[in-house]
Amino acid sequence: MTILSGMRPTGKLHLGHYFGALKNWVELQSKATCYFMVADYHALTTPESARNLHADTTDMVLDWLAAGINPEKCVIFRQSDMPEHTELAWIFETLTPMGELERMVEYKEKAAQMAEHGERPNAGLFAYPVLQAADILIYKADAVPVGQDQAQHIEISRTIARKFNDTYKPIFPEPKELLTPEAKVMSLTDPTKKMSKSLGENNAINLSDSPETIAQKIQGAVSDTGQAGSGEGGRNLLELLRLTTGPNFYEQFAQQYERGTLQYAELKPKLAEAISVYLEPIRTRRAQLEHDVNVTVMLSHSAKQAREVAAKTLHEAKEAIGLL
Ligand code: TRP
Repeated sequence: MTILSGMRPTGKLHLGHYFGALKNWVELQSKATCYFMVADYHALTTPESARNLHADTTDMVLDWLAAGINPEKCVIFRQSDMPEHTELAWIFETLTPMGELERMVEYKEKAAQMAEHGERPNAGLFAYPVLQAADILIYKADAVPVGQDQAQHIEISRTIARKFNDTYKPIFPEPKELLTPEAKVMSLTDPTKKMSKSLGENNAINLSDSPETIAQKIQGAVSDTGQAGSGEGGRNLLELLRLTTGPNFYEQFAQQYERGTLQYAELKPKLAEAISVYLEPIRTRRAQLEHDVNVTVMLSHSAKQAREVAAKTLHEAKEAIGLL
């Protein structure tokens, strides 16, 4: 089985990235041929004021390594190092009806957000799923670990594969989404939304946060707004406890939550402690890696490995079309 997944370079990663994707990637690397990609060309499709792609890439890759991604077991690379992806994406664009792209929920949501500020999306945002299809199909990946929000992009990747296969020659497998088993981690400050860097420093716990910072962020987290035993905030804190501690400890608080007797003043310090202990090995490893690893050198080395496969598939595709 061949697996590919990607993340946009967002800098330091938080618990949402970890439980929503990264932890699963670490498990998959021992079970399949895995490609993990820094989706920096996808990042360019949305304007962001405080962006430093180089630093954000380094920070993110260090967190991947700290969390257990092992470059000897998988191929880690940067999308912009691989012109083969954008080249195949162009071919795929000519096979993709605009109507298919107009249906994409992520596109519609982002376009609506931009419209609120009087902005209009660029053509790259519109074509985003086609580049994603190229990322996946160029390695002939069978499975793509993603969250539910990306399932539609995997579906269109299958449609594109089928269209190419029918039009030219059957060379692409139809990839399946591997939905991440872990639950969603919500924002600490607005638990109706997913934990996200864009919601501000205090809404997310970064993998490299110190125990003091973790304690402070959990202390300030929104718990229940109404009566005890209700509300997303309390449920999110319990979910974090479930993810970072043993079942007995969790059950005890979960029962209190159900009965409406949960004391957040008691839960919060215990939760902060559980998260700190859970993240301790990642934090330590990251500090070490910052000294030991040159991410830029590592990425350019592994891009060569990825290119061997990508260049071969692109050649095959061009040949099937009759371009060579
Ligand atoms: N679109 C994905 C995201 O926003 C990132 C991504 C780019 C990706 N290319 C991919 C994910 C290929 C899986 C496969 O999270």
